[in-house]
Amino acid sequence: MEEKDLYSTIFQRKSVRKYDLDPLDDDTLKEIKERLHTLQPLHQDINIELQILSPDVVKRRGMRAAPHYLAVFSEIKEGYLSNVGFMLQQMDLFFSAQGLGSCWQGIPTLKKEALARSRLKFVILMAFGKPQETLHRTATSQFKRKSFEEISDITSAVDLLETARLAPSARNAQEWFFAGDDRLIHAYYRKPSFIGRHLFKKYPPMDVGISLYHLKLGAEHFGKSTEIIFDNPEEDDLKEYEYVASLRLT
Ligand SMILES: Cc1cc2nc3c(=O)[nH]c(=O)nc-3n(C[C@H](O)[C@H](O)[C@H](O)COP(=O)(O)O)c2cc1C
Repeated sequence: MEEKDLYSTIFQRKSVRKYDLDPLDDDTLKEIKERLHTLQPLHQDINIELQILSPDVVKRRGMRAAPHYLAVFSEIKEGYLSNVGFMLQQMDLFFSAQGLGSCWQGIPTLKKEALARSRLKFVILMAFGKPQETLHRTATSQFKRKSFEEISDITSAVDLLETARLAPSARNAQEWFFAGDDRLIHAYYRKPSFIGRHLFKKYPPMDVGISLYHLKLGAEHFGKSTEIIFDNPEEDDLKEYEYVASLRLT
């Protein structure tokens, strides 16, 4: 499956939380492992490791079981959370396009023996397997999302920004904002409140990384070449927002 084939999945995907607990067959797991080697980073210089783990090393903390988990370990460097979002969302779309269910899992964590399998820091999990619930949405009205006006002021790129609007986010918080114009889109997240700063601080940059991947797929679908750049325009009217990255379209 080519990357461009994932575009249509943006409009169908959903989080799957109920799985057939039988492990996937070896050929399917091999294909998934191969796919992991093709993931594109947001930050080229951040060391990251993805492992496929079985449920016995996952502390589920109240979440339903899945037959497999992707665990992400990363070097801790500026931008590592948005990098994880950008990379793992490529797998979320791939699973959905392949007829498999998946769900980002911020609440569960790993047992000690699994944490010891990498020298990098454990960041997050993604559950995956054969779905035991509906896999795809059939209309964008089935997505519970903010309106376009709440997430961007770029009125010349509404169709393109629809891809970012529909992206998944932790607790469906959608704290992202997109400014700029249809040739250079700057991605931000709303600076968290006091409680948010303590409880959920890792999620907004990760969520923006996820939405940036959707945006990149969208831009390429509309025939543009894309480049991720880091060039904060430091706009005065965006002071409540934290800059993450920009997408240049040519
Ligand atoms: C970073 C991140 C962490 C998440 N953690 C969990 C989780 O721990 N448990 C869960 O059931 N869903 C989790 N989700 C799934 C979101 O709740 C879901 O993406 C959002 O409600 C939008 O729904 P949709 O994915 O079906 O479009 C997480 C999503 C993201 C992006």
